[in-house]
Amino acid sequence: MAPFILYVLLSHLSIQTSGYIQPNEEGLISGVITDKGLDYAKDLLIEEGIASFVQLQLPEVEKSIQVPLVGNAKVVLSNITIKGIKVNSSTVKTGETGIVIAVSGANANLTMKWRYSVSSWLIPIGVSDSGTATIKVKDMQVGLTVNLKNQEGTLNLFLLDYGCYVRNLSIKLEGGATWLYQVLVDTFEGSIASSVEKAITEKIREGIEKLDNLLQYLPKQISLDKTATLNVSFVGNPVLSNSSIAIAVNGLFTGRNEVSVPQVYPKEFEISSACGGLPKMIKVSIHENVFKSASLVYFNAGSMQLVIDELPEKTILNTAEWRFIVPQLYKSYPNDDMQLNITVSSPPVIQVTNQDIDATIFVDITVDVLEDGEVIPVACISVDISASCAAEIVGNRIAGRLKLQKFSAYLKWSKIGKLHMKLIQPLMSTALKTVIIPYLNFQLKRGLTFPIIDGFAFQKANILYAPPWIAACSDVSFLGEYYTSNQLINHKITLKNVSDVFMLRE
Ligand SMILES: *[C@@H]1O[C@H](CO)[C@@H](O)[C@H](O)[C@H]1NC(C)=O
Ligand SMILES: *[C@@H]1O[C@H](CO)[C@@H](O)[C@H](O)[C@H]1NC(C)=O
Ligand SMILES: *[C@@H]1O[C@H](CO)[C@@H](O)[C@H](O)[C@H]1NC(C)=O
Ligand SMILES: *[C@@H]1O[C@H](CO)[C@@H](O)[C@H](O)[C@H]1NC(C)=O
Ligand SMILES: *[C@@H]1O[C@H](CO)[C@@H](O)[C@H](O)[C@H]1NC(C)=O
Ligand SMILES: *[C@@H]1O[C@H](CO)[C@@H](O)[C@H](O)[C@H]1NC(C)=O
Ligand SMILES: *[C@@H]1O[C@H](CO)[C@@H](O)[C@H](O)[C@H]1NC(C)=O
Ligand SMILES: *[C@@H]1O[C@H](CO)[C@@H](O)[C@H](O)[C@H]1NC(C)=O
Repeated sequence: MAPFILYVLLSHLSIQTSGYIQPNEEGLISGVITDKGLDYAKDLLIEEGIASFVQLQLPEVEKSIQVPLVGNAKVVLSNITIKGIKVNSSTVKTGETGIVIAVSGANANLTMKWRYSVSSWLIPIGVSDSGTATIKVKDMQVGLTVNLKNQEGTLNLFLLDYGCYVRNLSIKLEGGATWLYQVLVDTFEGSIASSVEKAITEKIREGIEKLDNLLQYLPKQISLDKTATLNVSFVGNPVLSNSSIAIAVNGLFTGRNEVSVPQVYPKEFEISSACGGLPKMIKVSIHENVFKSASLVYFNAGSMQLVIDELPEKTILNTAEWRFIVPQLYKSYPNDDMQLNITVSSPPVIQVTNQDIDATIFVDITVDVLEDGEVIPVACISVDISASCAAEIVGNRIAGRLKLQKFSAYLKWSKIGKLHMKLIQPLMSTALKTVIIPYLNFQLKRGLTFPIIDGFAFQKANILYAPPWIAACSDVSFLGEYYTSNQLINHKITLKNVSDVFMLRE
């Protein structure tokens, strides 16, 4: 039997019939919390809620009762404390107009102190007694309806409706001549029940207010490093369906301290909440335009540059090694060290495919000779690199791992005569495989983390490629960083460092 509180709350909830998630406008990074994820969130909230109720003290209750033949008896119940709450069953339901969370059949234990005193003309010597008592609350129902709205890029959590109903409460006195007072104390059942109801509803209101505050703390932008920021402003209102919640953030990289020049990217928002049949709690989808914007920002900032003056094969960066291959180089600069100045020559082209992310990177590799502390560029080779990037989950970050597919090199200019590219190829290959790709992977490994899921860890994640989207379907587990029962607000949100993603410079 569904509890009546649930009926009341659900009656305000208009359930969407399509069950299909309307795509969010504009957002290039979207998150879907599935029914499994909602269930997990609900359990977490109830757990946190109970933690905030335990040891909660209710206000003192006092009553004067007219006792026949005895006179006016004053009974005071004090130190009424909630000791424990056990929840039998709970549900979460979503509809277009909100999210309902309901707890039914909760039982609670409370303890209290009681004091009894009588004074009247009949009994000149005041009679008084005191003791302790336990209170058992049975079949308590608690429910609330909330909704989420976007207000200028920040999510607001609204409490639409809430309530608590205690169906059955019994008081058992301990100590003293308890049988004598039990009858008196029983008259308090009603006021203690409403006191419990009031305290719990008040806690709900506070709790939702704190959660809302937490959402206000979420940054609208994440500073990634000295070059870029990621816009994580929410776009559009969360879309609630009967089994999921979808949210979206802007998701574009912009140059730091730069007035954002809105780039016009083609938009395709046919995202689905499906995880290939797998029951997962959340799905985070990233549009390839996110990577494109990153590519553009770092390129425009001129930060895609790397100088290599050492390779695993140490001698390869010395002119002596090249005396037979490029005699002119050795003749002009005998036995000098060399370095490779690698500059990306146009924004890397990034595309999500059905298996991975394709990246085409155009670089100019300038060969410098180091002579008497001087850097002398002697030749420049253009290299087109084709690489594939597999997305992976590292902790709670989405990171990438690059693999060289192929490259082609051609001479751009030379001050040391014609270079046979066939002979240069091994140098390029070594530089790519031993330094450039590992370096890029080191940078990509730092990955991206999103404020809304920071504080949770991905578990058993799957990556799905659905061009132009790439998605991570995952279960999550709470790391306990966000809120420790009552200290929700005071807890500082920790953002993981996501510096230097996609960055080529040290
Ligand atoms: C959501 O609605 C769709 C369509 O009416 C239905 O098929 C689906 O079972 C519903 N899901 C839940 C969790 O109620
Ligand atoms: C209420 O009881 C607790 C222990 O259950 C005790 O620590 C506290 O001091 C009591 N408060 C009052 C006002 O008696
Ligand atoms: C209430 O107390 C009894 C006995 O101490 C215990 O068995 C029961 O689990 C408690 N119930 C709750 C809801 O804490
Ligand atoms: C718990 O809920 C189930 C139904 O969900 C019910 O059958 C059972 O009697 C309840 N138990 C208690 C102790 O209320
Ligand atoms: C309250 O619980 C007691 C003990 O379980 C039971 O005897 C009584 O009938 C219940 N009262 C109501 C109103 O449900
Ligand atoms: C971030 O995204 C929001 C929503 O799309 C937009 O209104 C805002 O102007 C963006 N901020 C910057 C700095 O680009
Ligand atoms: C690397 O080459 C670029 C031009 O291709 C140049 O602007 C830059 O100064 C060079 N860097 C070093 C450290 O030589
Ligand atoms: C994060 O990156 C910035 C800039 O690169 C650096 O100054 C800072 O120390 C890093 N913080 C952590 C915790 O690694």
